[in-house]
Amino acid sequence: MKQETIKRIRRTVILCAAAMAIGGGIGLIQLGLEGKNNGTGLMEVAGADIGGPFTLVNQDGKTVTEKDYAGKYKLIYFGFTYCPAICPTELQKIAQTMNIIGEKDAGLAEAVQPLFVSVDPERDTAKVMREYVKLFHPRLVGLTGTMEQIEQVKKDYRIYAAKVKSETADDYTVDHSSFIYLMSPDDRLLGIYRAADSAETVAADLMRAAGK
Ligand code: NI
Repeated sequence: MKQETIKRIRRTVILCAAAMAIGGGIGLIQLGLEGKNNGTGLMEVAGADIGGPFTLVNQDGKTVTEKDYAGKYKLIYFGFTYCPAICPTELQKIAQTMNIIGEKDAGLAEAVQPLFVSVDPERDTAKVMREYVKLFHPRLVGLTGTMEQIEQVKKDYRIYAAKVKSETADDYTVDHSSFIYLMSPDDRLLGIYRAADSAETVAADLMRAAGK
């Protein structure tokens, strides 16, 4: 790892962990789904109004919309590249989910699109996202955009995210809710996963949803 990266991690790791504890709780309340986990990891989310059309920019700098991923199952996570505490763990979980499905049913894995959406578009340029997503999985797509584009997608997915100034520098971190969303090929919400849910759980739910 580059020295600069290590320094960056040291600066943000503690703040990010604290932020997640707060952000996660707030996120769940916003979603109105607290306490509805049915114990299998797949939450009772039928009818939850989450998601919608979006226009964002992928890691190659290309403008994309929800139509680019139409017909695919989607594993969506919102976070930011400067957060090394929770975001990498959850993105690794998505990568692991992809690998589990890939081993069991390569065709189904092809029909799953993992997406990482930045809640920090000021720092997470397409170039930054390109370098970041490839650390996790070759199929992981990084999405960023203008402040307005990101605000809209955050609203549609009921993502809480707020800048918090770091005490140590001109730096800032971002409090944000941390969920992996599983969306159907026609963009209905199938499941929401928290830190405690494993890749095995997500993969099993996805396979069940696909009738495998
Ligand atoms: Ni994070």
